[in-house]
Amino acid sequence: MPAFDPVRDALRAGGSNIPLVHLNTTRRATDLAVLLNDPEDMRIPYNPKSRISAPGLVMVPLTKAEMDMYKSFRGQGAARVLKRKRQANSDTEEEPPAKKLAGDVNVVVEHYNSRPDVGVVQRLDSPIIGLKNFNNWVKSVLITRFAHSVLAQSSGRGARSGPGRAAGKVLDMGCGKGGDMTKWAKARVKEYYGVDIAAMSVEQAHKRWKTLHPPRFDAHFAAMDCYTEPLAKGFMPAMLSQPFDVVSMQFCMHYAFETVQKARCMLENVSKHLRSGGVFIGTIPNPDFLLDQLDALPQDAEKLSFGNSVYKITFEKRKTGQIFGHKYWFFLRDAVDNVPEYVVHWDNFVQMAAEYKLRLLYKQEFHRVFEEHQDHQEFGPLMVRMKVVDSDGASAMDEDQWEAANLYIAFAFEKQ
Ligand SMILES: C[S@@+](CC[C@H](N)C(=O)[O-])C[C@H]1O[C@@H](n2cnc3c(N)ncnc32)[C@H](O)[C@@H]1O
Repeated sequence: MPAFDPVRDALRAGGSNIPLVHLNTTRRATDLAVLLNDPEDMRIPYNPKSRISAPGLVMVPLTKAEMDMYKSFRGQGAARVLKRKRQANSDTEEEPPAKKLAGDVNVVVEHYNSRPDVGVVQRLDSPIIGLKNFNNWVKSVLITRFAHSVLAQSSGRGARSGPGRAAGKVLDMGCGKGGDMTKWAKARVKEYYGVDIAAMSVEQAHKRWKTLHPPRFDAHFAAMDCYTEPLAKGFMPAMLSQPFDVVSMQFCMHYAFETVQKARCMLENVSKHLRSGGVFIGTIPNPDFLLDQLDALPQDAEKLSFGNSVYKITFEKRKTGQIFGHKYWFFLRDAVDNVPEYVVHWDNFVQMAAEYKLRLLYKQEFHRVFEEHQDHQEFGPLMVRMKVVDSDGASAMDEDQWEAANLYIAFAFEKQ
């Protein structure tokens, strides 16, 4: 049975035989399978070689005062924009107030707009820094494996000559505060397009790009709802005339699965501007994990809730009888404060994606991504550099963070 043992893995690092196509789409881990010792179905146990902290030591729940503080804390960028807005409003009193988004989308936008951009130093204090680093490592693996070669083969190239020159165009849909831009800089992308519904996050992403030293790619940003509006609403036609080589949707696609219309609009935006041979990569909550946990709740459970000290998920209904709009409320410590999200019914999504000429290349749970790449000559040492483990191999995650990590799956599609 594979174990989380980074020291052993770092020592073993050297092999790089990663299968390009790995489809493991349907199996569900079940308690019965564990009892029957079916190795295919068993979850990977948390078993670090050494610990930085005693189990449970960092599991200090946020106090009510802390929660209130973070809810109303807007960060420097947001404060500046608000100040500018206030000034603009006092100049033009009769201007109508900005259109207010209705319902769940509004909750999502307000949540992401109000999350502080704490910067690298303060980020290190996060009680779930190990999990955040692990998620970033998985995204780096995904980008390196599926985007690097596609970008290198792009017809859109930078002026410099030679093998290291910038090439290719990426669309980061749901880019948030632009946390993946350094990964795209490492991918030597030539043009980066960041788009998100949360205008304050987009402003922070723009600011972050300006402080990249040196600015290693051209960047364009737009604030728009990618699940109800065409991409052309955010960017000039000339910007979209050359298709993208890569579209990336990290931890955000599931918000589109509120309705079939939103999911289709999202897929249209992904596919319409992606070149054939280009890739669509992403990360979403694992529908099998969510539904297994929901099924496992006692029939007479008062609340349809599960989780641990790091995350909590609360469903409104066991079943909706529909593919879209299967809603739950999500809390992730120091990251997401109870926002509405939707189950992505996987098989249906893959079928729908095929209608948009997107063919599945890869789908994997995060624990398995770890297992597949821990021995890799590049991704093993990268775990140390990204502080997923320290140089002695001690994990920065405790058991609850490790369990929360497996909430997610990574995927890659190719445009036909
Ligand atoms: C968990 S954050 C992920 C941010 C970033 N991709 C990352 O990996 O750090 C989810 C993002 O999805 C964005 N989002 C949600 N609904 C959206 C929509 N309809 N259109 C564009 N962005 C959306 C949110 O504003 C938020 O920034």
